[in-house]
Amino acid sequence: MKVMEQILKILKEKRGQYVSGEMLAQSSGITRAAIWKQLGRLRELGYVIESSPRKGYRLVKSTLTLLPLEIQDGLDTNCFGRAIYQQAEVDSTNKMAKLLAAKGAVEGTLVIAETQTNGRGRMGRNWTSTAGQGLWFSLILRPKINMAALAGITLLAAVSVAKAIHQVTGIQTQIKWPNDILYDGRKLVGILAELHGEPDLVNYLVLGIGINVNQTVDDFPPELTGTAISLKMISEEDGPLSRRLILQAILKEFEVAYDRLTTFGITEQLAYAKLHSATLGKMVRISQGVGRFVDGQAIALESDGSLLLKGADAEIIRIYSGDLIEKASPIISQG
Ligand code: BTN
Repeated sequence: MKVMEQILKILKEKRGQYVSGEMLAQSSGITRAAIWKQLGRLRELGYVIESSPRKGYRLVKSTLTLLPLEIQDGLDTNCFGRAIYQQAEVDSTNKMAKLLAAKGAVEGTLVIAETQTNGRGRMGRNWTSTAGQGLWFSLILRPKINMAALAGITLLAAVSVAKAIHQVTGIQTQIKWPNDILYDGRKLVGILAELHGEPDLVNYLVLGIGINVNQTVDDFPPELTGTAISLKMISEEDGPLSRRLILQAILKEFEVAYDRLTTFGITEQLAYAKLHSATLGKMVRISQGVGRFVDGQAIALESDGSLLLKGADAEIIRIYSGDLIEKASPIISQG
């Protein structure tokens, strides 16, 4: 453990009580002058540390920045989030995670940023990542599955995120196939899965997750007003919601589900996704690239994560991927 981390650990353990400079110096094996320097670094990172000439130092407030130290403080996982790359700013955490994965980063590596300058959404769209207001992160996975099983893993991720949000905030969201999370029809969470491998074996999978946490209406660009929402806009809590607690709950929930995948499949998550589905029963259009779409009524979610549509001639169509648009009127044409 680095000296700075050691000092922080002691201050945190004292839970707001004063610790003398002498004691800090002894426990970390450095001089009192060096302690002073380390405390300055912690303050620069956003920790509020009071000093009193006679009593010493006490931690008044932790930083709100999601530093690795903060993410791992109280994180109850074995693998997810044990290796962390944290950035104040990055173009896209998915892009960075793919580079790291290609260089051999271990399963469970978390790439997280306070803001993204070029956050990517599905279908080549942009993803707005307001600084410090949301959770913008990517997880590197190395699942032993074939590409066809990918839909199942992204569903697993979406359900884990929805469950974690419910656990921490009490907010019940809905899952829009394949992996968006909505509240009241407005987008709260987006997931972008990108994989690298052969058809029968995945080399690595990067799961990028964007969660609108503390934005106000004015933080969203005008074109998203009415279609995007944040947890803060729904919650009745005073003050900002804890991004740290939400992230930790997601990592835990997802790790457990992921570990159980080979033995138990996605049965339990599927049941949750059906119960809280924003899609089933609706008339929808699935866009699968420029000019390619399928219309139908969403009638079932399958155990491999695919969606079954009933087409205009009552034919059953199985869909593995695509972008879903809800339709107001009954199906007229079949694209
Ligand atoms: C979508 O709904 O279109 C998916 C959005 C995914 C956004 C997240 S934010 C973290 C990660 N990095 C990216 O560039 N994109 C994903």
